[in-house]
Amino acid sequence: MNTIHEFIKKLPKCELHLHIEGSLEPDLMLKLAKRNDVELKYKSIEEIQQAYQFDNLQSFLDIYYEGAGVLQKEEDFYELTMAYLERAVADNVKHTEIFFDPQTHTDRGIPFDVVVSGIHKALQDGKEMGISSKLIMCFLRHLSEDAAFETLNQALTHKDKICAVGLDSSEVGHPPSKFERVFTKALEEGFLTVAHAGEEGDPSYIWEALDLLKVSRIDHGVRCLEDEVLVARLKQEQVHLTVCPLSNIKLRVFDQMKDHKLKRLWDAGLSAGINSDDPAYFGGYMNQNFLATQEGLALSKEDLRKTSLDAFNASFLSESEKRFWCDKVVSFE
Ligand code: ADE
Ligand code: ZN
Repeated sequence: MNTIHEFIKKLPKCELHLHIEGSLEPDLMLKLAKRNDVELKYKSIEEIQQAYQFDNLQSFLDIYYEGAGVLQKEEDFYELTMAYLERAVADNVKHTEIFFDPQTHTDRGIPFDVVVSGIHKALQDGKEMGISSKLIMCFLRHLSEDAAFETLNQALTHKDKICAVGLDSSEVGHPPSKFERVFTKALEEGFLTVAHAGEEGDPSYIWEALDLLKVSRIDHGVRCLEDEVLVARLKQEQVHLTVCPLSNIKLRVFDQMKDHKLKRLWDAGLSAGINSDDPAYFGGYMNQNFLATQEGLALSKEDLRKTSLDAFNASFLSESEKRFWCDKVVSFE
C-alpha cells in the first residue's frame, strides 16, 4: 500500500504557475554572477538564504529582480530552465506552463531573443526527458502600458514559442484595467491570456481580469472568497485558480498552512491547483508544495487527485492530451 507521501511523489502532476526566474537557486546565482562578472550583495549560499525573509510580495520582488541580474547570455537562460525541468521531472510533473518576465531582462540591455531562445531550447530538450511545456510571457504591471505594448511587439515574431501572455509583479495599485488595451491586442494576435489577481489585491482585481483581460485562468485568486457573487461566477465558468501554497505562507498571505483556503475553494465548487510560483525563494518545488499542503490541510488522496485533474484540465494542452493525463490520474492508486 502506498503511503500518502509515496502517493504524492508519484502522482502525475501539471504545473501552471512557475516563474522561471523564481527557480534560480542560490548556487546557480553565485555561479552565474562569477561567470558573468556581476557584483552581487551576497557572497555565499547562506547569505542569500538569510536574505529570503519576506513580509509581503514587494519585499520578495525587490530581491527577486536583483537575483535575476546574473542572467545575461542565452546559455544562462538555458541552464536556468534545464535545472527547473530536471527538478520538475524528479517530482513527476508531466506538463508545465512556464512564466517569464522579459522586461526584467530587456531593461538591463539583454535582447528579447536571447531570453526566449535560451528558455525555448531547454523546453525543447525537456520533451526528451518526458516533460511537455508551454511558455507564457508576463508583463510587469508596475511598468507602463507603453512598455507592455513594446514587449508585446517584440513577442510577435515568437508566436511559435509563446502561447499566452500574463500579468505579474506588484499587484496593489496596478489593476488589470491598466493593461486592457494591451491584452486586447494580444488576444487579437492569437495569444491566450492569464493574470495574477487576488493574491494581495481585492476581488475587484479578479473581476477586471475576467471582464477586461478575458483570462483563461486566474493566477493565485485566493481572495475571491471575499465576494460570493465572484465565487459563483468562477464556479459557473469553472475558471481555474493556480494556487501557490508555500508562496502564500512565505509572503504572509496566510499565517500558517492550516489557515490556507485551498480546501474552501474546492468546497465552493471551484477548480484550483497546487503550484510552486518561485520555488527557489519559497522553499520548494511541486512535491514540497503538495506535501506541505497535504499535511497542513489533511488532504486525502481524492483531494490530491482532484487538484491534479483540475490542473491538467485547465492547461493549454489539446483535448486529447488532457484526456490522456486525466485518465492516468483517475486510475492512479
Ligand atoms: N513575480 C514572481 N512571483 C510573483 C508573485 N507571486 N506575484 C506577483 N508577481 C510575481
Ligand atoms: Zn506568480
